[in-house]
Amino acid sequence: MTEFDAAFDRAHIWHPFTQMKDHESDPPVPIAGAEGVDLLLADGRRVLDGISSWWTNIHGHGHPRLVTALARQGAQVDHVMFAGFTHAPAQELVRRLLPRLPRGLSRCFFSDNGSTAVEVALKMAFQAQVQKGGKGRTRFGALAEGYHGDTLGAVGVGELDNFMTGVFRPLLLACDRLAVPEDPRREVAPDLAGWDAALAAATEGLRTFFAAHGERLAAFIAEPMLQAAGGMRMWPPELLVELRTQCDRHGVYLILDEVATGFGRTGTLFACEQARVRPDFLCLSKGLTGGILPLSLTWTTDEVYGHFWGDYGEYRTFFHGHSYTANPLACAVACASLTLFDDEAVLDRARILGAALREAWTGLAGHPAVRQARTLGTVAACRIVDPRTGAPHPAGDRFSWRFHRKALDHGLLIRPIGDCLYLMPPLVTPPERIREAVATVSTLLG
Ligand SMILES: Cc1ncc(COP(=O)(O)O)c(C=O)c1O
Repeated sequence: MTEFDAAFDRAHIWHPFTQMKDHESDPPVPIAGAEGVDLLLADGRRVLDGISSWWTNIHGHGHPRLVTALARQGAQVDHVMFAGFTHAPAQELVRRLLPRLPRGLSRCFFSDNGSTAVEVALKMAFQAQVQKGGKGRTRFGALAEGYHGDTLGAVGVGELDNFMTGVFRPLLLACDRLAVPEDPRREVAPDLAGWDAALAAATEGLRTFFAAHGERLAAFIAEPMLQAAGGMRMWPPELLVELRTQCDRHGVYLILDEVATGFGRTGTLFACEQARVRPDFLCLSKGLTGGILPLSLTWTTDEVYGHFWGDYGEYRTFFHGHSYTANPLACAVACASLTLFDDEAVLDRARILGAALREAWTGLAGHPAVRQARTLGTVAACRIVDPRTGAPHPAGDRFSWRFHRKALDHGLLIRPIGDCLYLMPPLVTPPERIREAVATVSTLLG
């Protein structure tokens, strides 16, 4: 392997979500290794992967069982197209997931990343509506401040007109957005005065939204319990229950995007379990392979599947697929990851981690720069303000970028989203490492 060459990187490699000019002065950080819950930087530093490498990692890096599954599968069948062919790793993955899913989800479509899992759900929901005669359902419903990925369809149902999406406005899907409040019960020091009334008003707002838009929507998409990229907004399960009710009442499919929340992040295997809500579509990715290979699934029901059933000439087929659909290597690793959930009691460990995180976060809540400290499962978040003014740091200060870089010097990978500072570590992170990480955050906040 050649040495890392900053000039070569700058000359040829375009990094995601990055103003590349920044790398003129602040080059990307070379990674030389990954071991357990740590990343090993090329200069010898060891940093805790405090955000699970973009919310993907579950069991730590380089888990021998996942690495072995990958090597074994590689020696058997590395890849084959999935139209007209099938293979054991794909079947095994579906077999293992079926009993763990909300009831009713019986049909699984494979793709490669969270955005395409969403894209598939949007297209399938729309086509199902058309093929069952639901003409005029040409719009989607979505939560305000949502995020569902970066392909154009996914952008169309995400938050509109922010710095990431505004430029694409003329190209996007027709979408009506519903605002939901954050749930103060997640805060470590909640003030619940007025919450019952606020929840009742939000429920009424949801009903009004469906009364106005319901008949024109093909589907409504939401990240259950936690709007992650929108700033770790934890929203009430009661509203998810009402969302299901209103979707049923108005003939709208409910798509739950568990790309970020799936596989134990919020305390249960899937976040929708906490509201006991069963979606018509469930999108999974990120933690599906334990965070080491790209793979995604869009699950749906027999009812939806039935609208695509017919003779070829009827053109009811779902004409969609990707070159690497159901890649056997990724499927084999995903199977091994699910086995680890049982063999290493990962959800129990996540519960212990979640309790340690909440305790440490409660300590952090007293810091003068911290507002609205809250947790859900193994996710902890807060808003950061300038303690001198009580207001967020001005965007031009690049607080989140500077904080991210400073934290690396102190052994922690953390990357605030705007003024939202959060931790979302691998589920197997030892509690003492999390206590150290929160102490580091506190020190760095000054
Ligand atoms: C809720 C949600 N949906 C979809 C996506 C898109 O996933 P990917 O980056 O794999 O395309 C993300 C990514 O962060 C996400 O958080």
